[in-house]
Amino acid sequence: MEAKTQFFTTPIYYVNAKPHLGHAYTTIAADVATRFKQMDGYDTYFLTGTDEHGDKIVQAAEKQSQSPAEYVEKISRLFQDLWPRLSIGNDRFIRTTQPEHIRVVEQLLTRIHDRGDIYFSSYEGLYCYGCERFYQERELVDGKCPDHGVAPSRIRESNYFFRMSQYQDWLIDHIKTHPGFIHPKQYETEILSFLKEPLEDLCISRPKSRLTWGITLPFDDNFVTYVWFDALTNYISALGYPDGPLFEKFWPSARHFVAKDIIKPHGIYWPIMLKAAGIDIYNGLNVHGFWNVSGSKMSKSIGNVTDPVQVTGQYGVDAFRYFLMREMVFGLDANFTEDVLVSRINSDLANDLGNLFSRVLSMNLKYFKGEIPDVTSAESAALSLEPEAKETIQRFRDAMAGYEFHKGLEAVWQFISRMNKYIDTQEPWRLAKDPDARPKLSAVIRNLLEGLRTVACLIYPVMPETSGKLLAGLKVPLPETGFFKLDRIFPWMQMPAGACLEKPDSLFPRVDAGKKTGQ
Ligand code: MSP
Repeated sequence: MEAKTQFFTTPIYYVNAKPHLGHAYTTIAADVATRFKQMDGYDTYFLTGTDEHGDKIVQAAEKQSQSPAEYVEKISRLFQDLWPRLSIGNDRFIRTTQPEHIRVVEQLLTRIHDRGDIYFSSYEGLYCYGCERFYQERELVDGKCPDHGVAPSRIRESNYFFRMSQYQDWLIDHIKTHPGFIHPKQYETEILSFLKEPLEDLCISRPKSRLTWGITLPFDDNFVTYVWFDALTNYISALGYPDGPLFEKFWPSARHFVAKDIIKPHGIYWPIMLKAAGIDIYNGLNVHGFWNVSGSKMSKSIGNVTDPVQVTGQYGVDAFRYFLMREMVFGLDANFTEDVLVSRINSDLANDLGNLFSRVLSMNLKYFKGEIPDVTSAESAALSLEPEAKETIQRFRDAMAGYEFHKGLEAVWQFISRMNKYIDTQEPWRLAKDPDARPKLSAVIRNLLEGLRTVACLIYPVMPETSGKLLAGLKVPLPETGFFKLDRIFPWMQMPAGACLEKPDSLFPRVDAGKKTGQ
């Protein structure tokens, strides 16, 4: 039977500033989802990249006295270098300045133009140079651009327009008849509410007199392509549209991860572009909220732009990935503070998981000289953690399949805390004093080891390195893929009885709250 397929993408990030916490979150979330799907037996493809054309980039390059080409090369490299450091396993990194991408943008424009959905017209309107787009009066706040806080300029221009309006009813119907197309539900509601207003046609060109850093329109070389039309196309150009094998294999399962700031281009322009070009539209859009830092929007002027390199350098990659996935409810905003990060590291990672691991291995060393104890079924049945482990896997699977990462981790940590309590109630140190209780002691320790094995397998998508360390400590040989598929975590009691386990290194040392950097 052919494997099920899943294609995940992140936004392609602008190269006008270096990567920060927000970019790291989306990319980690898509990475976690990809690793989870692999555990669930899917064949996956994971795409990220950089968006390199447009005014913003030209301005940023000018500030640094560099040519746009030099500048984009430098910043794109920062993103490409960051991802492996955050254990991101993307299959492809696309750049919109790559020739194969440019070719697909040209093809798509030609196709839509040939079908009569792009027309030339003159337009006068209020233009915000920061956003690179025209605004309607009603979209302004006190006459100013809501994002830039400056009054837009009235300009008159001839440009090419994409007839979006005629696809409005089709899109509304598609969203209503495909539950989960936009996830979570509150963003579906938001898109449907945008669509209650008549859709304006989209201006998809910029005259070269104003901007040259872009893709020339294939049907008029006095214009370059609007940066969003160019950028969205990356999702198919990266797969080798129109006839590449990856496109055929993965496009039907495409699901885009974005934050709420870019829901309109993804939820409205993109499906309509695809429809107008006669391409099947993507399968789904996952929209998450925003990270604030210490209660405020990240901004250079406040000085709270959080650098993932700095945080992971200090606290470790897996701790950072865990924190982001545990703390944010997918879809809602969340707050990043160093205090909360440290307290999660100390409580969830050092105390709950780290201590459990070292307690169990130390007891195994003390009572069984490190040998994994064998267990008779009669003894283990009454003491078995098996039903709870099974239930944990099920809860984890359901939550992760629904992109509720925090709930997936919550299920695992409930099981961890159940095991810590199990130790307290079973009191292995007491059993160890009674020679008749030896079979019971074996069963208790063996169940704990099997429980730890289950936890080690489940945390793989979020904490791949820690998962590997735990499994190595438990002497569980890893499959070649580096992880266990969900349906291979059971049977229970699959650890090699008799194998000898050593004293573990500390997994997560406690962070002394006084030693934070104070971001
Ligand atoms: N280049 C466009 C996207 C084109 S996709 C075809 C763009 N780039 S961006 O660099 O501004 O990235 C925006 C994305 O970065 C958000 O949608 C989100 O994925 C991530 N984040 C940026 N700041 C964020 C937060 N403060 N919090 C969470 N994620 C945020 O838009």
